[in-house]
Amino acid sequence: MGSSGRTHLKVAVTGGAGFIGTHTVQLLLDRGDQVLVIDDLRHACGQPVPAKLLVADIASTTVRDALLDFGPDVVVHLAAQGGVSRSLRDPAADAMNNVVGTVGLLRSMVTANCHKVVFASSGGAIYGRARRLPSLETDSAQPLSPYGAAKLSGEDYLGMFQRTFGVQYTALRYGNVYGPFQDGTGEAGLVAITCDRLLRGLGPEITGDGQQSRDFVYVGDVARANVLAVDRPLQTAVNIGTGRGTSVLEIAGALSRLAGWTAPPVHVQARPGEVRSNYLNIGRACSRLGWSPVTTLETGLGETLAAFQLQRSAGRDRIGTVS
Ligand SMILES: NC(=O)c1ccc[n+]([C@@H]2O[C@H](COP(=O)([O-])OP(=O)(O)OC[C@H]3O[C@@H](n4cnc5c(N)ncnc54)[C@H](O)[C@@H]3O)[C@@H](O)[C@H]2O)c1
Repeated sequence: MGSSGRTHLKVAVTGGAGFIGTHTVQLLLDRGDQVLVIDDLRHACGQPVPAKLLVADIASTTVRDALLDFGPDVVVHLAAQGGVSRSLRDPAADAMNNVVGTVGLLRSMVTANCHKVVFASSGGAIYGRARRLPSLETDSAQPLSPYGAAKLSGEDYLGMFQRTFGVQYTALRYGNVYGPFQDGTGEAGLVAITCDRLLRGLGPEITGDGQQSRDFVYVGDVARANVLAVDRPLQTAVNIGTGRGTSVLEIAGALSRLAGWTAPPVHVQARPGEVRSNYLNIGRACSRLGWSPVTTLETGLGETLAAFQLQRSAGRDRIGTVS
């Protein structure tokens, strides 16, 4: 029991060495929880891990044994292969990690008598070409990528594990998460990629006309949602976004202003089939999770650019990672 009167929990965080994981682990530690990070470091964000770290694949028996040993009250399952484009290039590899890995982890949890999980799903990839905006959790999910299909499948398995094995869960459908420690060298993560380009003296890159919009949500707010969901399993999916769409042009313009960049952006061809607009209704997050975003886009972009600048000047650019 801590000074807050709350019983401290044992929380295992898969993918805890990654971008969202790093912020989530810190919040859990700040409130006194005991944390075990499980990450095979294939895409770690390069920040020191401030908790006990098990370097292992989520589907391995090593993880099952570690869960048996640690005895977590809850697992925050963030480990996944990110990247819609990558999943389109190799759908089977995506499914192996994001579907089979998730099922293996859920099975290990049950073996270790852990019956609570928070799952990182995707509001950006699950709804597909939304019929109406902002998307509601009750709208039909029609993913356009193997990555989105894997997230939807993960949610289906959560439902099954809940009905059959009594595993309580919350599936958080994040929008486009951005913030410090995101990989700016990959194919996904517009804010991180633009920060990285600006600091390398390259202009922002605009695909197509740049009017396509997404729901950009700050990583500190997402980490807070993860922690709230640890305490409040809702047995359902919950959108985590801002409720508004921001265009690629707006993001590029705002970051250019913050960085003092005045040259015109670089224009590249539109991606065929790219969804025009996607943003999320966050009513359920407000009413059932007690969550709403508190970081304005301006503040979040400023913090992100500042963190990238700091990382660059400290010579700690992300190393040894894949896109
Ligand atoms: N970043 C976003 O905008 C966004 C949006 C929606 C959903 N999500 C989901 O949120 C979660 C976290 O995303 P992120 O942006 O922090 O990604 P990330 O790549 O920075 O972090 C993922 C972490 O998981 C680890 N990992 C991957 N596969 C693993 C495996 N099989 N075993 C052990 N560790 C493994 C990686 O090494 C990495 O440290 C993912 O599930 C992702 O799909 C992210």
